[in-house]
Amino acid sequence: MGFIRSRSAVAPLRRGVPVSFASAAVAPRRTSVVQAVALHRPEEPMHCIRPGVLKDTAASFVAAFEQAVSGDVLYAVKCNPEPTVLRALWDGGVRHFDVASPGEIRLIRQMFPDAELHYMHPVKGREAIRTAYQQYGVRDFVLDSMEELQKILEETGDAQDLGLVVRLALPKGNAVYDLSGKFGAPAADAVELLRAVRMVAKKVGVSFHVGSQMLDPAAYERALELAGRVIADSGVVIDVLDVGGGFPVSYPGVTPPPLGDFMEAIARGVGRLNLPAHCRVWCEPGRALVAPGVSLVVQVIKRRGNELFINDGVYGALSDAGVPGFRFPARMIRPFAQMTDAPLDAFAFYGPTCDSADKMNGPFHLPADIQAGDWIELGQLGAYGSCLRTAFNGFDQARVVEVSDLPLLATPGYDLKSCVA
Ligand SMILES: Cc1ncc(COP(=O)(O)O)c(C=O)c1O
Repeated sequence: MGFIRSRSAVAPLRRGVPVSFASAAVAPRRTSVVQAVALHRPEEPMHCIRPGVLKDTAASFVAAFEQAVSGDVLYAVKCNPEPTVLRALWDGGVRHFDVASPGEIRLIRQMFPDAELHYMHPVKGREAIRTAYQQYGVRDFVLDSMEELQKILEETGDAQDLGLVVRLALPKGNAVYDLSGKFGAPAADAVELLRAVRMVAKKVGVSFHVGSQMLDPAAYERALELAGRVIADSGVVIDVLDVGGGFPVSYPGVTPPPLGDFMEAIARGVGRLNLPAHCRVWCEPGRALVAPGVSLVVQVIKRRGNELFINDGVYGALSDAGVPGFRFPARMIRPFAQMTDAPLDAFAFYGPTCDSADKMNGPFHLPADIQAGDWIELGQLGAYGSCLRTAFNGFDQARVVEVSDLPLLATPGYDLKSCVA
């Protein structure tokens, strides 16, 4: 018998080929990626989940945020809703979840009945609000307009036990993924909104998001300064201050400042605001908690010069390698033939679909003698990887295995010792 895994519509890997690490006698849980490749010879993309890395990463983050501001860490479920991933984060001490759809709410409630859920999507459908409040006991909702406030009040029957968090718009910053355009109330509107929610909510908060893969710790201080001005102008006493997500991880050629620098910046920024003693500080990390904990093994189908045609692409788990131009750490895996000492060369990838846009320029650095039939492991794909897969062109099959390797790249400030002990 294999491990029992929850099924979920929001975790697309559940639609893949059956996990064949079913028997501990065949493959012990402390298996390496290379062993898994040798065992399965996978011809479809193989997602390699590192539960130990995920657990230790979460534990490091939770401890750092606790030490900095005694705050609560809300995992942003959208980033990777895979049940094995969620279980590892829970084991690492995550008890709060940033959910943004009824599907995510259902999944987390099923898996962790005692989890604290916070509905952090600023624009929700009416039925989604009703279901969240009435069926799943969600009380905290984010909003960025009077219209959304009205909707929440109507759909919860003017509930008296709401936690309402006003999402503040930030000016465009220097995050790799800018999130400034879609959501957030401008400062003047946020002042009015805060006063309005204070009249009706049991708990009132302010939130923002500095953008994803934010490499500058000072961005949090600047955002906190703006939040402080809005809170002061409103004259409202707040109960929650949510500094959002955005915490970065390493990619080839990019090593972020250590996690501690971000925590110190947040502690300084929060310290200047003179918040009431009861006010909780929240954050909503996604990428930082899960990117290092999953890698992807792909197979080379054809080589054309320095272009490799591989079996996953921008319509699969490599969407960020397309137009956003993310580069991922790469290594060749060749379990059945001698590895040579060929130097590294720069390669671009084509995905398996017939669309010419299914191209990833990289460059990805791999041995110069790589050829069709070889496998490649791509690291840091736990965030915004498998959750973005589509079934386009019929390429919707994938394998999932659990492995015990460390990540291909280390991100400074995280203690992953226990997972290799
Ligand atoms: C509301 C909200 N919170 C948190 C996150 C997670 O951000 P990150 O992965 O950059 O930490 C996102 C990402 O889109 C988001 O929209």
